[in-house]
Amino acid sequence: MKITKICCIGAGYVGGPTMAVIAQKCPHIQVTVVDLNEERIAAWNDDDVNNIPIYEPGLAEIVAEARGRNLFFSTDVDQAIDDAQIVFISVNTPTKTYGKGKGMAADLKYIELCARQIARVSKQNKIIVEKSTLPVRTAEAIKSILDNTGNGVQFQILSNPEFLAEGTAIEDLLNPDRILIGGDESAEGQEAIAALTSVYANWVAPERILSTNVWSSELSKLTANAFLAQRISSINAMSELCEKTGADVSEVSRAIGMDSRIGSKFLKASVGFGGSCFQKDILNLVYIAKSYGLNEVADYWEQVIIMNDYQKKRFSSNIVQTLYNTVSGKKIAFLGWAFKKDTNDTRESAAIYVADDLINEQAKIAVYDPKVSQDKMLTDINYLETRTAEQNKKYLSSFASSYDACKDAHAIAILTEWDEFKSYDWQKIYDNMQKPAFVFDGRNILNSAELIKIGFKYQAIGS
Ligand code: NAD
Ligand code: UGA
Repeated sequence: MKITKICCIGAGYVGGPTMAVIAQKCPHIQVTVVDLNEERIAAWNDDDVNNIPIYEPGLAEIVAEARGRNLFFSTDVDQAIDDAQIVFISVNTPTKTYGKGKGMAADLKYIELCARQIARVSKQNKIIVEKSTLPVRTAEAIKSILDNTGNGVQFQILSNPEFLAEGTAIEDLLNPDRILIGGDESAEGQEAIAALTSVYANWVAPERILSTNVWSSELSKLTANAFLAQRISSINAMSELCEKTGADVSEVSRAIGMDSRIGSKFLKASVGFGGSCFQKDILNLVYIAKSYGLNEVADYWEQVIIMNDYQKKRFSSNIVQTLYNTVSGKKIAFLGWAFKKDTNDTRESAAIYVADDLINEQAKIAVYDPKVSQDKMLTDINYLETRTAEQNKKYLSSFASSYDACKDAHAIAILTEWDEFKSYDWQKIYDNMQKPAFVFDGRNILNSAELIKIGFKYQAIGS
């Protein structure tokens, strides 16, 4: 089957960048990205590409090249589904906040709504691609909905999980380690795999396009995220032991990372991992394991989350303890609010939890982040429902200049590893702070010798 029209439901952090890259690499395919969120679609269509809703290095340029040529953003979901040969489902799958599996299982209501809409609208055979991260065996539920509520047309369901990381999404999409496609073993299933492979083959080498059965593909995505997060919790666990013993976690990381069996990536100790997926996907994995009665398996993976929560708490407790056991009324500057550098995404960012702990101690938090607005910060902290929105507003403010955020502060906490923090005039910052001036480097990015020489009381993670 020659693919000329595809559509993607969900214009978020995955749908937007992924479809932009497909459109750029496949000028012969018309790519339509649809979403219910009118404001988001309007932002994707903004005349000024710098106003698109997602910040990713390199994304605006690709959108500028392809938009209006073969890349379209629309709220007309029905039309886009009807036109497409391949429909990607890239909607959010957050942790359930109600009912059975609350706080653990993935909420599949948006996925089910998509499946029902596809079934209702489709008049021709289609390939449906699970791009969202889903519990293993979700394809079965989608198939059942499509087959029982559709117009008698044939659907093939493929699992094609996305492995991009935010901040490097474009680079990851252009040069993926692998593309994983899970499909049915029948002839029709294999044909569908071949059709989707032909899209990626426009820029990805054949040996990097892997096909498996659907369940392996679904489970591989949860497994990959669990393994990645587990490495961070493992090194963070060692960071506390380093602090007690005089070892330095950066040296330990380097030493073990040179073992080719271990590898050097994802061994950076930090204030704790954030982002919309690691916690959500591990909780989901734990829930699935428990639902099969595999309690030891569930407990093993749950420990990754427990360790991560502990690391965030440990960071805020240490700030309070070091500032003579009280931060009440003290200004604490936060450099960074995003969950990692080069993104405006703040979902599950460690900064939110550290701020909440410190506000409980009546600290005044002054935040500078190059890409996150004050409104977003307040929304994040209000979401925790620890106190009223008015109270949060009294304790949390954001500054357009990092130097203003740090002025008169008792301490600075580095929450995100933005590169610009490394090149600041730290002498100037020191001169304008309360003394003793403390720096808590939750990302181990600053030059400790330089800061100590200036006069800072400097603390890193794991040394
Ligand atoms: P997101 O919240 O940024 O985007 C999802 C979009 O889907 C939203 O704009 C929402 O309005 C839209 N939507 C929901 N239901 C809809 C419907 N019925 N019709 C039309 N639009 C609808 O989420 P995201 O970060 O892009 O994540 C999407 C999926 O991809 C999740 O399953 C996530 O686990 C997975 N994933 C995310 C990343 C990442 O880096 N963010 C990476 C890999 C995989
Ligand atoms: C992660 C995975 O890396 C992607 O492969 C996956 O597609 C994605 O989740 C997803 O499924 O959503 P992402 O969360 O965007 O990507 O970013 P990461 O680079 O993985 O960072 C996650 C968090 O871990 C960040 O807070 C980061 O600062 C932290 N981290 C990362 C560390 O603390 N130490 C490290 O060594 C690496």
